Amino acid sequence: MLGLLRKVLGHPFVYDQVRPRVVGGIDMQSLYDSLGSDAKRAVLDVGCGTGDALRHLHGVERYLGIDTDPVAVREARRRFGDRPNVRFECKFLQPADVTDFAPTGVVLSGVLHHLTNDEAEGVLRLALTSPTLVRLVTSDIVFLPGKLFNNVLAMMDRGRFCRDPDAYAALARHAGLELEAGITVASSPDNDRVRYFLMALVPKVPRS
Ligand SMILES: C[S@@+](CC[C@H](N)C(=O)[O-])C[C@H]1O[C@@H](n2cnc3c(N)ncnc32)[C@H](O)[C@@H]1O
Repeated sequence: MLGLLRKVLGHPFVYDQVRPRVVGGIDMQSLYDSLGSDAKRAVLDVGCGTGDALRHLHGVERYLGIDTDPVAVREARRRFGDRPNVRFECKFLQPADVTDFAPTGVVLSGVLHHLTNDEAEGVLRLALTSPTLVRLVTSDIVFLPGKLFNNVLAMMDRGRFCRDPDAYAALARHAGLELEAGITVASSPDNDRVRYFLMALVPKVPRS
């Protein structure tokens, strides 16, 4: 039953059209702004889904979206595949993707809560192998004390590894990243019932 619910929640129409109405509209602009202009030059979007990042990323020179869900990748290509220097691939992130693409910015929007600690740290470590990495940004559902509606929705989510803010930050630290900023934001300006945890992460040793 829970499996069926998660499958329905992951359908592109439900994900892009229905979910924002339930949680009050989702405005992720602040996540993409937190990349900063220097990191926005070459963006690797891990778990890109239907390519929504491209509605928010302006001034990007190169973009690579990777996702394991063929339905989402097909939809992403339909929406944005004709843009220059934009590419989508249906796969797990591989070391060669990072070395070949050499991202300056990495986005993990709504992804860490789908991954075990080992998987999440593996992806973060892979991102760190980019010699040009400036910043990595993440956004996830989050367990917060006293936020019942938020926490129930988080429990019903397709992602099975929702965490509290400290646990997300610990993942980043273990992977060798420094937490530049970690904030919770409302899913929309006029609805505080659902919140997300956003992290801006930088390599502990800055790249030259
Ligand atoms: C909550 S959706 C977020 C989609 C998009 N980033 C957004 O913000 O709209 C999470 C996505 O991560 C993808 N995903 C989960 N685990 C993944 C993995 N190990 N590698 C690549 N993508 C993954 C799922 O298929 C799904 O499309």
